[in-house]
Amino acid sequence: MKRIFALFVALVASFAVMASESVIVPRPVSYEAKSGKLKLNSKSVVYVADKSLVRPAAIFCSYVAAEKGLQLSVVEKLPNGESAISLSLDKSLGEEEYLLDVTTQGVVVKGGSEKGVFYGLQSLRQLVFHTKGKGKAVVKCATVKDKPHFGYRGGMLDVCRHIFTMDEVKRYIDILALHKMNRFHWHLTEDQGWRIEIKKYPNLIKVGSMRKETAVYTTNPKNGNTMISGYDGKPYGGYFTQEQVREIVKYAAERYIEVIPEIDMPGHMVAALASYPELGCKKGPYEVRTRWGISKDVLCAGREETFEFVEGVLAEVIELFPSKYIHIGGDEAPKHRWKACPDCQKRIKEEGLKNEHELQSYFMHRVENFLAKYGRSVIGWDEILDGGISKTATIMAWRGPHRGIKAAQLGNKVIMTPKTHCYLDYCQTSNRVANGEPICGGRNGKRIITLRKSYSLNPYDQLNDEERKLVIGVQGNMWTEYVADFDLLQHMILPRTAALAEVGWSYGNQDYDDFARRMHLLRKLYDKCGYKYAPYFFKGIE
Ligand code: ACM
Ligand code: ZN
Repeated sequence: MKRIFALFVALVASFAVMASESVIVPRPVSYEAKSGKLKLNSKSVVYVADKSLVRPAAIFCSYVAAEKGLQLSVVEKLPNGESAISLSLDKSLGEEEYLLDVTTQGVVVKGGSEKGVFYGLQSLRQLVFHTKGKGKAVVKCATVKDKPHFGYRGGMLDVCRHIFTMDEVKRYIDILALHKMNRFHWHLTEDQGWRIEIKKYPNLIKVGSMRKETAVYTTNPKNGNTMISGYDGKPYGGYFTQEQVREIVKYAAERYIEVIPEIDMPGHMVAALASYPELGCKKGPYEVRTRWGISKDVLCAGREETFEFVEGVLAEVIELFPSKYIHIGGDEAPKHRWKACPDCQKRIKEEGLKNEHELQSYFMHRVENFLAKYGRSVIGWDEILDGGISKTATIMAWRGPHRGIKAAQLGNKVIMTPKTHCYLDYCQTSNRVANGEPICGGRNGKRIITLRKSYSLNPYDQLNDEERKLVIGVQGNMWTEYVADFDLLQHMILPRTAALAEVGWSYGNQDYDDFARRMHLLRKLYDKCGYKYAPYFFKGIE
């Protein structure tokens, strides 16, 4: 029955363009259809009223050339005669706000900043794509008014459990840009591999970027659980040079996406410990981890050498990433080693701390204070709430929305990325094996996040008006334990990224049925871009 309904929705969706409804994902604040059509062809130009708009204009031209075969040129002088797409800044609009007006004479895109214009062009890209013909477009006249609800709309990519090429990382950024997302949270360090070159600590690459082999995971036929069936015996690794990191930061910035690096500490540091064993409580031996899960080995919080190391790493990180935020992890740091370590225990005593949770809090505060000297703010996973937290840290709530609620009630800024809605490594249907889904993360692949479930995230749930102001946005997380290649990665992030993008952009103006209708259209653009999205939703499987 669900499948028949999905086919019906798809059919209705294909008529939707004719029915003058909005095709845009994420849903704009308003879309008002008007009578008449605008013809665009290779004689049409994109006129930029301000030099700063040449770049978004050029990116827009590359989209419509690839997706419609429509060759437009960018001009800085007002044309006469041919219909133009005119781009300008309008300081009366918010930074990410835009107005898009398609008339029979041309298109006007006004944005509160370059960013706003870029978002207007992302919407125009979708309007142009959903027209008939090649090398030209006949766009229905309409007025679109739009601005995002949340200022932080992010996607996280773990390049540690599996690494991806420069081109693949750029394609991931392209996917974020298509959905008007503005943060790329780049998870760069892990137990299973250190992926960013740090010149002061060359062993991080020489030793920490390679694991000797990787566990092979299969489904246990008896209970459907994920289990290790052996090890592949193949060395695996790789890293991004500082030059490559700069290239990614620039590529993202050109698409109005800020890259937030994550250096995860004090846990998830086994690759660093393998590189510099003196940083661990037991001082070794350590090896880059070859299976998933949580390691008991963490950075020693008792010795000063650890803080020298962390500061040395972060000093290079802040040179590479201009982002306001630096993510310092803080998740899943077991306290076994600290309990048994004389140096850690000495620190607890000397600092008058109650326990190891407070020691972690001490650790995170020290790192936060170091970054503050350089004008940077920290983001940490919600565990950093556990031992007491500074008011200035932003919490990424992952263990559940309740962690974000707690953080907001404490007065901290919150990014909602609960594993109940935002973990894109989790399965997408209720019957993974029957539906041919690959092995997924989350309690042996048994935690399910359908498209509908992602869409249902309410970042404000249970919060009063004051607390709501502290929720700055939402994020989808792509952990890659079970995602070894980019085709599978796309299968996991699409179409659920669209759902989270619509929560972030269109909160307060959402409607799942209308979203479903528009997704059947956006899917065609995914096809055109060659994105290997998951088929389940489109087949009516949940
Ligand atoms: C996390 O999933 N460990 C943040
Ligand atoms: Zn220690």
